[in-house]
Amino acid sequence: MSNYHIKRLEEYFQVYRKSVRYPEIFWEEIAEEHFVWRKKWDSVLEWDFTKPEIKWFDGAKLNITENCIDRHLQIRGDKTAILFEPNDPNEEAQHITYRELHDQVCRMANVLKDKGIQKGDRVVIYLPMVPELAISVLACARIGAIHSVVFAGFSSTALATRIVDCGAKMVLTSDGSYRGKKILDLKSIVDEGLQECPSIESVLVVKRTGTPVEMVENRDYWLAPLMESAYSDCVPEIMEAEDPLFILYTSGSTGKPKGMMHTTAGYMVYTAFTFKNVFQYREDDIYWCTADIGWITGHSYIVYGPLANGATTVMFEGVPSYPDYGRFWEIVQKHKINQFYTAPTAIRALAKENLDFVTKYDLSSLKVLGTVGEPINEEAWHWYNDHVGEKNCPIVDTWWQTETGGILISPVPFSTPTKPTYATLPMPGIQPTLMDETGTEIKGNPADGRLCIKFPWPSIARTIWGNHQRYKDTYFSAYEGKYFTGDGALRDEVGYYRITGRVDDVIIVSGHNLGTAPIEDAINEHPAVAESAIVGFPHDIKGNALYGYIILKETGESRDRSNLSKEINEQIANKIGPIAKLDKIQFVPGLPKTRSGKIMRRILRKIASNEMGNLGDTSTLLNPEVVDQIIEERL
Ligand code: WT7
Repeated sequence: MSNYHIKRLEEYFQVYRKSVRYPEIFWEEIAEEHFVWRKKWDSVLEWDFTKPEIKWFDGAKLNITENCIDRHLQIRGDKTAILFEPNDPNEEAQHITYRELHDQVCRMANVLKDKGIQKGDRVVIYLPMVPELAISVLACARIGAIHSVVFAGFSSTALATRIVDCGAKMVLTSDGSYRGKKILDLKSIVDEGLQECPSIESVLVVKRTGTPVEMVENRDYWLAPLMESAYSDCVPEIMEAEDPLFILYTSGSTGKPKGMMHTTAGYMVYTAFTFKNVFQYREDDIYWCTADIGWITGHSYIVYGPLANGATTVMFEGVPSYPDYGRFWEIVQKHKINQFYTAPTAIRALAKENLDFVTKYDLSSLKVLGTVGEPINEEAWHWYNDHVGEKNCPIVDTWWQTETGGILISPVPFSTPTKPTYATLPMPGIQPTLMDETGTEIKGNPADGRLCIKFPWPSIARTIWGNHQRYKDTYFSAYEGKYFTGDGALRDEVGYYRITGRVDDVIIVSGHNLGTAPIEDAINEHPAVAESAIVGFPHDIKGNALYGYIILKETGESRDRSNLSKEINEQIANKIGPIAKLDKIQFVPGLPKTRSGKIMRRILRKIASNEMGNLGDTSTLLNPEVVDQIIEERL
């Protein structure tokens, strides 16, 4: 993707202006130059946000795995495509070349076909971060089956709900998974879930941990022997540009999870383009994204984006704390990682530990650092910059969503000057805008409003599986003719964006609209504080008052709580204003989080408002036990 290897800020602005003025020409050029098509498109873009209907490259024919694998075989067949780093540091890493990946994907594709999977069928993948996970995603794409990866830390109920919703015919799983010291019995979780899933015809099982499992006759099969005897070539299914590629579930604020459906051509073009530019990937770089493939981050920036660029992408099976808190940095040193992409929650967790865990490793291979998933607070940003990047690596704070398929707002390293807590500028082709409460676009800077996108980009989700009305209601109804992100944002004097959090989390205190992130930032800067979450609760006079849940650092544990509370409120008053002071401060051992590290403020809000009887769906919580503790010590 050499022509859009953006290197200087002027170049960015030039490219950006063109992408907005002539979006179809812009994307057509990229699509033409960098991909393999079986047939070119009839039209680049057709769209109507009121229906909503969006089509990119309509009429084109392709297979995404030809773009991610086959076309690389000639020039980089022996290059490592996937570098697998196991949970146990003593187990050897696996270097899977593009040629081997081709072989494996074809074999698995043939196994799927053999078990009756055809184009358009849904396959649920419930696997740990082992190579078979990436291979099965690609095998589905090879034959035109729609994959739906369910994070292998979800419960059997969460798994079953998703299987039923998409009507999957097959599940891929493993006997078990390693997570640090623990082994999780995945197969038995699947067995439990499948009691309520009549659509499932077969289950393929990867052997990983050697955990004993029950195999149901004529339903369950070990994968390895089937792969071995399968033919190692598989002609790719020729897909239409707008054929579904995958469904990925994301939790709604209420109700059942939404199956975001992504399609083939636009998703491929956009994830490949953004991967190249946001990470400034070069041919021999080793790139590592620590996310799980169960999240959109893993789909777009472990599998499809990197492989479409012929990159070497690392898959890590383990956790950042095993065998100790130095594991990430040990891996960076071991594999000479050049680009490292992780989540603020991981950075904060590691920043709490002794600095020796970082400093004892050689991190000089690093060139670009990334974050994604939630606003990164200033303290974590500086820790990342100072100790991991050694002030030498631009940090790309990438804002996007499961729904957007790819990164929409992010610095372009070596060109966009970074600014802590700011995702900065839109990617080429992305037209963000801020809206006020009355539905009017806010012009001029600085500004503060609800973040919308005015124009389609190639990787936007096309619908919610089985519920187009919900898709329309959720994203296209709040502001006419615009995609509403659900996030609030600030725009500074030069036009940089800072995401302040979900607007459902915005709290109106005495008529002032307060985002959670800036207040939490101010709290987290207190030296005794490790992490915090604030929510609103009803108040006679102010309408809402603020309730803060605060986790202390070990060094803060011995301090007097009422003094601490005073200091924290003074700090808020200084940084934001007295309006944002907390009425109640509860020191807690942990915060309820989703598996992707997002604080479930919905639950904290219920607790603060004394509505404990009605906490809603907690099946996707990482740490349900902490909820009981917080309730017990409620103020
Ligand atoms: C929501 C989307 C995109 C992959 C991982 C999360 C928040 C995401 C940032 C960022 C501030 C961010 C937003 C967004 N978010 N990245 N860089 N700065 N907030 O995907 O689970 O669909 O969540 O995550 O609130 O809407 P997701």
